[in-house]
Amino acid sequence: MTKILLNRVQYLPSSFIKLSFCRAPKSLPILQIKNKEYQADEISNVTPKILSYLNRNLHLQKDHPLSKVRQRIVNYFYSSFTHRGNPAFSVYDNLSPVVSTKQNFDDLLIPEDHPSRAKSDCYYVNSTTLLRAHMTAHQSELLKAGLENFLMIGDVYRRDEIDSTHFPVFHQVDAVRSQRKEHLFENHPGLEIFETTFDPETPHLCQNNIIDPVKQSCHTLEATKLMEAQLKNHLVGLVKVLFGDEIQHRWVEAYFPFTHPSWEMEIFYENKWMEVLGCGIVRNEILAASGPNNSIAYAFGIGLERIAMALYKIPDIRLMWSNDSGFLTQFQNKDLNANITYKPVSVYPQCTNDLSFWLPSTLTVDTFMSNDFYDLVRDIGGDVIEQVKLKDKFVHPKTKKQSLCYSIVYRHLERTLTQAEVNKIHKDIERAAQQVFGVQIR
Ligand code: DAH
Repeated sequence: MTKILLNRVQYLPSSFIKLSFCRAPKSLPILQIKNKEYQADEISNVTPKILSYLNRNLHLQKDHPLSKVRQRIVNYFYSSFTHRGNPAFSVYDNLSPVVSTKQNFDDLLIPEDHPSRAKSDCYYVNSTTLLRAHMTAHQSELLKAGLENFLMIGDVYRRDEIDSTHFPVFHQVDAVRSQRKEHLFENHPGLEIFETTFDPETPHLCQNNIIDPVKQSCHTLEATKLMEAQLKNHLVGLVKVLFGDEIQHRWVEAYFPFTHPSWEMEIFYENKWMEVLGCGIVRNEILAASGPNNSIAYAFGIGLERIAMALYKIPDIRLMWSNDSGFLTQFQNKDLNANITYKPVSVYPQCTNDLSFWLPSTLTVDTFMSNDFYDLVRDIGGDVIEQVKLKDKFVHPKTKKQSLCYSIVYRHLERTLTQAEVNKIHKDIERAAQQVFGVQIR
C-alpha cells in the first residue's frame, strides 16, 4: 500500500496544481477553512469543490428533505426517552466537520493500518486533520464532556465513486445511549454489568477482548443481551415510525472497531434489501477512557440520504444539493409526517463521453487510483457529472504500455446541456488529467 502511495502523483486542488509541481513541499499552501488556517502537507487532498459544501448545512435547511428526516428521527428519540418529563437525549447538529485523526480514528480504536484511514478514501486537510468521515468522530469528546445520551447529526465526507446514489458528502445521525447498573437492572438488582473478573474501577488492569462473538469479555451476558434487545427494539421502532408498521427488516452481523457485538439493519425496499444503519454495544475501552465508567452503552449511525431517497422517492442523490425551486417547493408547507412523493420536474437528456489515456510508466492499471480521478472530474465538471465508470483496462501486447478508459456521463438537473458545453468540460478534464497524473490522452 505504502509503495502505491509513494509512486502516486499527488492530487491537490486544481488551484494548487502548478504550485505542487514546481515548489518544494515546504511551500505548500495554507488552507483556510471556516476561519481557521491549516498548513497543507503531502497528505492534503481536500479540493476547493469539496470545501464549498461545508457551509451548506442541508440537514438544517428549513423544509429540506434531509432536514425533515432529521427532525422525524430526533422527535422519535425525544418522545421515546424522557427523564422527569424532559427529553433524555441531547442533540448536537452544528459540530464542525473539521476533526483530528485522533477524533475520527484513534479514539474509536480504529487500527493504524485500517483501510478506512487511506488517503484514497478520506479528505485530509493535512496529516493530522480531516473532514470527518463519520459522525462517530464526536463520540469520545461528548462522552468526555459528561454526556450519557446524545445524538450527533451532520455532514460527513468520503471519497467515492460517482453515481445516482453516491456523493462525496452525505449526512448521518449517530447516537449513544449509556445506562448505569441501577437503570439497566432496575427490576433485578442482583444482576451485574461486569463480569466478576473485571474491575470497572481499574479497567486498564484487566484485558477486555472480543473473541466471543456474542459479547465483550468484560460484560456479563445478561447486560449485553438486555442492551442488544433494547437497541434493536428502539431501532425497529424508528424504521416503523418512518416507513410504516409494514416495513420488513432484518439484522446482519457486522464489524466496527468501536462496537462489539455489531449489527447492520437492512429494510426491504423496492424488492431489494437495503442497508440503513450500523450499530452495536460500545467497546468498553472507549467508555473507560471517556465515559461514565460504571455503565454500558449502545451506539448507532444512520445515513440520512438513503432514508430520504426511499421515503420521498428521490431518484438521484445530487437533487439533495439542488437550489432549484422545482425540487425544494415539493417539500414546503407540508406536515412533517406527511407522505410526500417527489415528482421529477422534467428529465433532461444525458450525454456520455469516453476518456482514454495511456498511463505514465510509474503507474499500472492496478495502481492508478480511480478515486483520485473521480475527484478531478468532479472538481472540473462540478454537479453536471452524473456518473463516471471505468469502462476498460488495456495493456498493449507488444509495448506493454497500459491504458484506461472511463465513461463520463454528463447531465444537468435543471436544463439541457449542449454537446458543445459538454465537449468543453471534457477537454478541460483531459487537460487536467494530463497535468496532474502525467497521462497521455489517446
Ligand atoms: N460510523 C459507522 C459508519 O459510518 C456507522 C456506525 C456503526 C455508527 C456503529 C455507530 C455504531 O455509532 O455504533 O459506517
